[in-house]
Amino acid sequence: MSYVLIIGAKSDIAKAVARKYAENGYNLYLAARNSRELDEFANDVTVRSQKTVKLIDLDILDFDSHQTFYNQLEEKPLGVISAIGYLGEQENAQTNFNEAKQIIDTNYTGIVSVFNIIANDFEKRKSGFIVGISSVAGDRGRKSNYLYGSAKAAFSAYLSGLRNRLYEAQVHVLTVKPGFVATKMTADMDLPEKLTAQPDEVADDIYNAQQKGKNILYTKWLWRWVMLVIKGIPEWKFKGMSI
Ligand SMILES: NC(=O)c1ccc[n+]([C@@H]2O[C@H](COP(=O)([O-])OP(=O)(O)OC[C@H]3O[C@@H](n4cnc5c(N)ncnc54)[C@H](OP(=O)(O)O)[C@@H]3O)[C@@H](O)[C@H]2O)c1
Repeated sequence: MSYVLIIGAKSDIAKAVARKYAENGYNLYLAARNSRELDEFANDVTVRSQKTVKLIDLDILDFDSHQTFYNQLEEKPLGVISAIGYLGEQENAQTNFNEAKQIIDTNYTGIVSVFNIIANDFEKRKSGFIVGISSVAGDRGRKSNYLYGSAKAAFSAYLSGLRNRLYEAQVHVLTVKPGFVATKMTADMDLPEKLTAQPDEVADDIYNAQQKGKNILYTKWLWRWVMLVIKGIPEWKFKGMSI
């Protein structure tokens, strides 16, 4: 079996996803900033799975490097998974546009730049899968994180359009919408246990959904219903709420 490319590979969810794909017989390209920091992790995955793991540098904000980044992959991947994300600081982003821009560019513009390149290649080859980790935060804007949420909303809409475009080329696009996940991104938050997934659970859900060709995955599954309720609150009521 050939390579799966994981971008944002230092993320806790990405590491769990990498182990899952290697266990199931895939070789891996792990792309991240300062990817050498993944040396020990990559060795451990190789020893356990006997699969090849290659590390590549990728800064999602360095748009001009993205074509070269993809060109350097000698064997093109059969699928790509993005776990890149930046929560940022909502209050800071309201007054400091650099912070707002970093949130938008990391969660949206940068990934679009890389996914466009890969989507064009997969479309030509008429095969491949594209998995984007978005968020339930993109389903409705809230005052506590609407800059991050709006970038995720744009990313979810992008993935929906990409799925529609690539359907005829038989390229599968999966949108992943995690609720709360216990990772370094949420380490300083007090998360409700019943609504919080571990990275391994998210990785299992992603692997199964991708293998089955699903379109949209909420993980944990009950977030589909939580978001249905939240989306159903009328705007006149929602605007006065703190949730
Ligand atoms: N944790 C949650 O509750 C939750 C909920 C919903 C959605 N998500 C989404 O799940 C995905 C994985 O997040 P996570 O929870 O595993 O958090 P995480 O460990 O903080 O992962 C985010 C990753 O994005 C990478 N990244 C940020 N800026 C980058 C840049 N300029 N270039 C390349 N990589 C960059 C980070 O790289 P560095 O390691 O180099 O900083 C980090 O590895 C993200 O898309 C996140 O938005 C998470």
